[in-house]
Amino acid sequence: MSLLDKIKTRSAVIGVVGLGYVGLPLAVLQAKTGYRVIGVDEVAEKVDLVSRGENYISDVDSAELKEAVRAGRLSATSNFAALRGCDIVMICVPTPLTKNKEPDISAVVSVTKQLAQHVHPDMLVVLESTTYPGTTEEIMLPILTSGGLKVGQDIFVAFSPERVDPGNRSFKTHNTFKLVGGVTPACLTAARTFYEQSIVKIFPVTSPRVAEMTKVFENVFRSVNIALVNELAILCDRMGLNVYEVIDAAATKNFGFMPFYPGPGVGGHCIPLDPYYLAWKSKEYDVHARFIELAGEINEGMPYYVLAKIQRLLNQHGHCLNGSEVLVLGVTYKADVADWRETPAIKVMELLQREKAKLVYADPFTPSVEIGGRSYAAVEVTDERLRRCACAAILTAHSAFDYERIVKLAPVVFDTRNGTRNVKGKKDNVVLL
Ligand SMILES: NC(=O)c1ccc[n+]([C@@H]2O[C@H](COP(=O)([O-])OP(=O)(O)OC[C@H]3O[C@@H](n4cnc5c(N)ncnc54)[C@H](O)[C@@H]3O)[C@@H](O)[C@H]2O)c1
Repeated sequence: MSLLDKIKTRSAVIGVVGLGYVGLPLAVLQAKTGYRVIGVDEVAEKVDLVSRGENYISDVDSAELKEAVRAGRLSATSNFAALRGCDIVMICVPTPLTKNKEPDISAVVSVTKQLAQHVHPDMLVVLESTTYPGTTEEIMLPILTSGGLKVGQDIFVAFSPERVDPGNRSFKTHNTFKLVGGVTPACLTAARTFYEQSIVKIFPVTSPRVAEMTKVFENVFRSVNIALVNELAILCDRMGLNVYEVIDAAATKNFGFMPFYPGPGVGGHCIPLDPYYLAWKSKEYDVHARFIELAGEINEGMPYYVLAKIQRLLNQHGHCLNGSEVLVLGVTYKADVADWRETPAIKVMELLQREKAKLVYADPFTPSVEIGGRSYAAVEVTDERLRRCACAAILTAHSAFDYERIVKLAPVVFDTRNGTRNVKGKKDNVVLL
């Protein structure tokens, strides 16, 4: 049976390498579509959890995962040899930055090298990790074809970025436009046919490079606009204006404006990282991506701005930061998700610790954090805790926080997320970003 027939009859076996925020939901989606799915991850603990049908990603439906495992449609292993039996392999491993903000695609390279030992005719390989334009064709393709297999004839290679927005209840993988770029037209046909089985909307593009560029451009767009509104927030602070009132007023325009909101910085595995992938690659073409660098500079400066403003607020109330109790409310990178990767709250807490503030934090999604080699356990937001602190700093506006009570009891509330917007009555003690 040809690969296309196997795809259409759902008899293809799918390998998903990397069972994280992206890979596990995809693995469950493919199993639900009717394919047999083998998840491969280097972390034994994740393999064990999936093998037992236990969920660890909030965007995955636990019942669906359990059912897929029970029905024998989803299994997991750390052994790459299992990929030999797969017809389609989706790669969903991390693409972080080095300390100096250069792309670190070592996981993609390592996985591709291991896969190359098991690649066989009629196999489709799709990279889903976010990366700079050129990765699929310049880095992966030579490794996958080093044994002599011809792309577009023997094997099929494509790039299809994951665009999942963690915590978004309306748009999940199956109903978000899926970009697909194949190395050859036959690669595109194979990848497109595969995704059409489980995803409502497919948007084919002419090459993996276009798909890679589109994905990073989307995240550059967000980074630049967030930086712009962060700069506006700093200016509004100087001018004594409420930045949220300005944004809400601008958003009444029916066209040509789209609201972005300021905050203590940017977090998550995408916005703080992906733009630097493009900035790095652009230098190869004698282009210095200045918007990307500038946005990074402003967004990465926000935790320092937050620190300075907390210092100023305490000073206005006759306190110095050294020895004052600062109650940090929310540390995950965005509200109501349990993901604290790259969260600016940790940076703010590091800065507060460095200035010898007495640090306490509360976050329903984060039982403990490590700051400067010290472990902190989350505290309950009790009345006593609120009254006692010198300042409550809202860094992530989780819906579980009782903002009425926070505003009523804390002497000073520094609200970097406008979490207190619905609190009625007197809010003299609330200071916005
Ligand atoms: N998290 C998001 O919201 C999101 C959204 C869109 C795109 N992305 C992109 O998707 C990719 C994956 O991100 P994620 O958030 O799922 O990361 P993650 O860290 O949650 O998951 C990656 C998984 O890969 C495994 N892994 C790492 N190296 C491996 C190797 N050599 N062999 C086998 N397994 C390995 C890890 O153990 C982990 O389970 C990244 O490129 C990211 O930029 C993420």
